[in-house]
Amino acid sequence: MPPSLDRLPFDILFCIASSLTFDDVVRLSLTCRQLRLLLNESTLCRRTIEAHIPHSKEAKLAQRQQITYREAVQRIYERREAFAKALPYSARILGEGFAFTYRQGILCFASGKYIRVLDIHSSSSPLRVINLSSVINATAGAGPSGAELKFSLLYYSDDIIAVHCESRSRSGNNWLLAISTKVDVPESQRVVAKVELESSSRLFVRHNASFIYWGTHSGTGTHGHHEWIIQGISIDGKHVIPSDTRPLQLEEFVGSDIGSTVAFEIHEGYFYALSNQTSFDVEEVDWTSFYHCARFPLERPFRNALEVNTRIYRRQHAEGPINDSWTDLSLQVDEATNYLVIVESRREWLDGASKQYRTFYTQNITFPRRESSASTSPDASPSIGPSAAGPLPEDDPLVALLASGNNAHWAPFETRHARYTHPEYGVETDTARSFILARTKFRAYSLSCSSFIDLVEDEKCCAASASPCTGPCLRLRIGSRRLAPLYSDEFLHDSGAGKATGIQEAVSYPPLSGADDRFRYSRIKLWPPAASSCPCAARLHRILNPSQPRESGHGKTLVGVIDERSLIYMVRPGRDEEAVGPIVLVSFDREIGRLAVSNDDDMADSVMGDDVSAGEEELHWRWEPGKSSACSSGACR
Ligand SMILES: *[C@@H]1O[C@H](CO)[C@@H](O)[C@H](O)[C@H]1NC(C)=O
Ligand SMILES: *[C@@H]1O[C@H](CO)[C@@H](O)[C@H](O)[C@H]1NC(C)=O
Ligand SMILES: *[C@@H]1O[C@H](CO)[C@@H](O)[C@H](O)[C@H]1NC(C)=O
Ligand SMILES: *[C@@H]1O[C@H](CO)[C@@H](O)[C@H](O)[C@H]1NC(C)=O
Ligand SMILES: *[C@@H]1O[C@H](CO)[C@@H](O)[C@H](O)[C@H]1NC(C)=O
Ligand SMILES: *[C@@H]1O[C@H](CO)[C@@H](O)[C@H](O)[C@H]1NC(C)=O
Ligand SMILES: *[C@@H]1O[C@H](CO)[C@@H](O)[C@H](O)[C@H]1NC(C)=O
Repeated sequence: MPPSLDRLPFDILFCIASSLTFDDVVRLSLTCRQLRLLLNESTLCRRTIEAHIPHSKEAKLAQRQQITYREAVQRIYERREAFAKALPYSARILGEGFAFTYRQGILCFASGKYIRVLDIHSSSSPLRVINLSSVINATAGAGPSGAELKFSLLYYSDDIIAVHCESRSRSGNNWLLAISTKVDVPESQRVVAKVELESSSRLFVRHNASFIYWGTHSGTGTHGHHEWIIQGISIDGKHVIPSDTRPLQLEEFVGSDIGSTVAFEIHEGYFYALSNQTSFDVEEVDWTSFYHCARFPLERPFRNALEVNTRIYRRQHAEGPINDSWTDLSLQVDEATNYLVIVESRREWLDGASKQYRTFYTQNITFPRRESSASTSPDASPSIGPSAAGPLPEDDPLVALLASGNNAHWAPFETRHARYTHPEYGVETDTARSFILARTKFRAYSLSCSSFIDLVEDEKCCAASASPCTGPCLRLRIGSRRLAPLYSDEFLHDSGAGKATGIQEAVSYPPLSGADDRFRYSRIKLWPPAASSCPCAARLHRILNPSQPRESGHGKTLVGVIDERSLIYMVRPGRDEEAVGPIVLVSFDREIGRLAVSNDDDMADSVMGDDVSAGEEELHWRWEPGKSSACSSGACR
């Protein structure tokens, strides 16, 4: 009888499974009944989680014994599959607002003078409403004043929402408030920090529960260009930043558009700043483009604590021109390693091609080793300054043309490993439609799911004559990839590598070294299906394209946020910053979407809960296995 996997003693199977990747363990367990018991083995599940995805939310829940390791494996696998295949589990309208933030599973949205806080990941936690007028009125000491205050939401983290408050009158009055969103905090204690701002030019905030940092693009460098100024304070009473600490100006740090040319993030005790370029001026002769990254510890926002690396490899200019309108830049945390990773999407004419293609690149952040930080004076020069000018290429005639003032950058070409390079069209024969920028309302890349996600406005979807909807409609457009075996099936077949001796013959087949990976790309998918295809698709179109209270002549503004399991977006009519629009949740996590949004009576019209019986059916779609009423033809999932 030939040996087969399911007949092996369990100990041996366990050893084999513990050396597999996360997806392979799950897929192996799906192959047959006998192997399904792999996932019934909690030691193996635990090992799989700890070896591959120890920093995911599910891993943390399992550590705290709120779910089992088996459930953790299953949930991670399912949400990633659902995301990568563009098959969400639920979609619903959550409420209305003119601004929102979504982080750590918490949605904060604003309308009027109220901030509503909703835990998307928990079906039991109630909606909290913060009355901003009364919170401000109840806060002792100087603060934003004047009847007419305008505010915007900046950032949420660790039960604190950062809010920018401005008086409408010209007299200035420009405040940053950090407001606790915890349950049961008396109004007089909700404001945990307030700072009067001198400038609010491109204001952004990043914080944890101990420190709050804010930045404005209001400094001026010696060259006359604007530069970012970063300031921070401690907010928990346990940590201190000396009160005489001067604001930190990020010198020679170029770029002002968060999300396309610069990104800021707090991670593991450090504040990070990233830019896609290293000089203010375009050099006439230049070879290589680098990222500029800087960081400092949250406790020490001092110049001498700043680490800078201006030579993180990005690309060679010779690779081809970039269409800048499509550039997206972000810093994301890898669920497997907890590293902060640069994720950039660029649309380029690569290698002289006549067509432009989008590619999603990832790159590690590194800093040169620090020698010592002997100096304690906060204003001493950075111990590691911008790197000195690097080498120049040999044998390049252009070197002779360099003028003395030229600030050319060069580094040898670095191989583009497939592991860090995800092309939009991975399947060469993919005929999926591409959408112009004006129709691509939102773009993002999910490192966790190896997928890109666009929210596009599709004119054709509802054009069918039998269609129950009209006009262009919003649809998800998702492409993904996953690890492929190192050897293709044909190769195994040809060389007989499956046999005990065959493996030596493999030498000429790339890639064998483990230096790179192979990927299997999925075709790009659009979701939901055409509204005319089934009743639940029609309902999904109404949820994803909620009717606007008033259409304005200026079209719509769409703002979106994703995390590793959900997309949340808001569609606001026109460009009026205070006009409210619906906020929509699309989730790939089976556990999300059950939530029954509870209401306080005053707000009944702005948050639609499950108890709103008439609207409920219309505003909520959720797939349940075996529940045929969800969609009888199954086209939506
Ligand atoms: C695995 O566990 C499930 C539920 O815990 C149980 O129904 C099933 O019979 C178990 N399968 C095996 C092969 O032990
Ligand atoms: C919010 O606070 C303001 C000012 O204190 C008050 O006038 C208003 O009635 C409050 N709103 C609600 C819904 O409690
Ligand atoms: C503000 O607070 C004071 C007392 O702290 C109270 O008398 C006043 O009515 C409040 N104003 C509003 C608008 O709630
Ligand atoms: C915020 O970051 C600082 C610096 O790493 C850390 O010491 C502190 O514990 C963090 N606060 C929370 C509540 O995580
Ligand atoms: C950085 O991104 C911006 C916006 O996309 C672009 O204009 C600029 O050329 C980029 N810098 C480099 C060095 O590519
Ligand atoms: C980042 O560094 C880690 C550990 O050094 C390595 O495994 C990973 O491949 C690197 N990623 C990139 C994008 O270079
Ligand atoms: C770059 O992309 C934008 C938006 O899609 C497009 O309008 C523009 O024509 C492109 N630029 C070139 C040179 O093709």
